[in-house]
Amino acid sequence: MNKVTLKARGQQFEYQCAPNVTPLRAARDQFIPIPTGCIRGGCGMCKVKVVSGEYEQEMIRSHDALSDEDLANGFALACCMTAKSDIEIITVEDYEKLQQNESGLEKIEK
Ligand code: FES
Repeated sequence: MNKVTLKARGQQFEYQCAPNVTPLRAARDQFIPIPTGCIRGGCGMCKVKVVSGEYEQEMIRSHDALSDEDLANGFALACCMTAKSDIEIITVEDYEKLQQNESGLEKIEK
């Protein structure tokens, strides 16, 4: 079992995930609110930024859902990945808010 730390909807969740189960499925099984759509790598609703940890992203996916650039920048599809260690992920929505807040703080500091 790997521990998944998920930031979603402004909250942080921690849950266990078996090595052969996707973080999305494990979250849903435990009633943790993770954005979900097609569950097949097609829509991109489950896209997350991987903050830390080892993982494997299935290569069968729509490039609209996860582009090669996304992949290179550490984004993944929670419905088509498996954790290979404890992992920390953040939804794209929360990640963008975090980025905005950080740039907002920088502006105030200057
Ligand atoms: S739920 Fe659609 S790509 Fe993951």
